[in-house]
This record gives sequence, structure tokens and C-alpha cells, in this order.
Amino acid sequence: MAMTGVLRPGHAQVRVLDLEEAVHHYRDILGLVETGRDAQGRVYFKCWDERDHNSFILRQADRAGLDFFGFKVLDKATLEKLDADLQAYGVKTERIPAGEMLETGERVRFEIPSGHLIELYAEKTTVGNGCGIVNPVAWHADSERGIAPVRLDHALLYGPNVAAVQKLFTEVLGFFVVEQVLNPDSTANLAIWLSCSHKVHDIAFAEYPEPGKLHHCSFLLETWEEVLRAGDIMSVNKVPVDIGPTRHGVTRGCTIYAWDPSGNRFETFMGGYQPYPDYEAPLTWTFDNFGQGLDYPQRKLHESFLTIVT
Ligand SMILES: [Fe+2]
Repeated sequence: MAMTGVLRPGHAQVRVLDLEEAVHHYRDILGLVETGRDAQGRVYFKCWDERDHNSFILRQADRAGLDFFGFKVLDKATLEKLDADLQAYGVKTERIPAGEMLETGERVRFEIPSGHLIELYAEKTTVGNGCGIVNPVAWHADSERGIAPVRLDHALLYGPNVAAVQKLFTEVLGFFVVEQVLNPDSTANLAIWLSCSHKVHDIAFAEYPEPGKLHHCSFLLETWEEVLRAGDIMSVNKVPVDIGPTRHGVTRGCTIYAWDPSGNRFETFMGGYQPYPDYEAPLTWTFDNFGQGLDYPQRKLHESFLTIVT
């Protein structure tokens, strides 16, 4: 599909309890590339195949969780238009000046009805993926260092008012609902998977009483063998695993959920299909089949999936 408006997830800033322990986890075990540290003490990472300077930022704090999740938009004119559209819709926006995050332009920040801070930005310095752009090489040492995901793919966020979040993302930001899970009496959505692209999800939300909660940030691998290899690396390094390796019914992604040393859940996954705007959508899961949606082979609604968030 033509890519305009919001392009993709661009960055997540996550709070951790012990910065160096977290750096070891994300750099040496997950295999992200450390790209900088700023005056606030934040540590910046990218996945090896990402072209922009950073996509995942750690900040030490007293409690774990998500500070904000940002999307890159096509250009500065798009950023101005989306800011105006948000304000016209009744959303209060705030400008974060260029340079507040390393190598990142001005950001438009706003709180959504689930209590999460979402950002839009148009500029982040291109540093490349190390493979070159003329006769690019197909292999890079960083592609096999640690679990080595290719990109920050999406996040699942827990909070109240999923219906209002769905309306905002679809009516103002140009997303569409790819899949949905109905509540037990099938009167409203309990969870939604939203895409701004050809991906099966760029962000997802689940209804939860507490606002602003992080369920997981997700990192993309390219093959099922790489997911199994990720499981091996987690086991060798004694990373606590939540679920998997298994396949989701929702999105058909093949996954492992695990926790970082601060208790933030992260996902390494591959697969899923690629929806187009003319497809019959959304795909719908009734609540009694959500166990199959979460864990297709076991058909099990894991308690931890529903209750453990940061
Ligand atoms: Fe996920």
C-alpha cells in the first residue's frame, strides 16, 4: 500500500530499575546495538537492521514500565497536519523540542484515553544498518550477535477505554483494526490489533482497569528457527520465559514472551500475514476462543498474559 501519514513504530522508551543490568540484557542477550547515551543517563539502542539512530531507549527509574511509544511519520508537513488533526479532534498535544532525544527531531506528544503517552515525529538521523546502500552486503556480524532481532515491531499496551483508543487511532491517525477479541458478552472489544501499514500489527491494546500499562514491546525475527534459537539463548542466560515458543492464533505470529530483569515483558517473534485495506476485516475472536487466539496449539488463556504488566 502507499505509505503516507504514520509510517511505523519508531521508538519506545522503557523504564528499568537497574540500568547496567538492563543494558546487559538488551545489548548482550537480546543483541540490540547500543548507539548512544545522553546527559539524562538514558541509553539508546537500535535493532541491527534498522536504519535510524535509535528505536529502544532505557531510562533508570524507581518503577518499570513504558514512558512513551513513538511513531515515525512521513515528513514534517505530515507531522503538522496530524498535530492539527489531533487538536481538532479534542486531543491536547505537546511539542518536545528537537534534540531532547539523541538524533531525533521535534516530537508531538499526547495522552490517549488508555493513559499512554504516544508521540509522532518526522526526523531521526539515518545511521544505516551497516550493510551499505551500494551493492549492500546480505550478512552483518550484528545479525548473529545475541538474539539479534531485525526491528522493533510493535507493542501491546494495557489500559482502560479501548473503544475510545480505537476511534482515535482509526479516525485521526489512519490506522485500521486487523483483529479484535470480543468481551465475554460480545458487546465490545476487549483487545484490538491496529496497523498503519501492511503489517499485521503496529500497536495493540487490551482493556485493563489501570491506565498506562506496558504488556510488551516486540522485536521481529525472520524465521521460526530464529525464534527457537532465541529460546535457547534465553535459557542459557536464565532469562525468565513467560510463554512459548508457540504460535498465536491472533496474527498467526510465532512467539516467545519473556521478562527483562526489571519485569518488563518483551516478545521475540516471527511471521504473521500481511493485511491489505480491501480485506474483510477485522478478524474476530470470541472471548471463549481467546485461549486459542493467544496460544494456538495449547488453546490456553495463560493467567500471566492477563494479569502481569508493568
Ligand atoms: Fe506482540
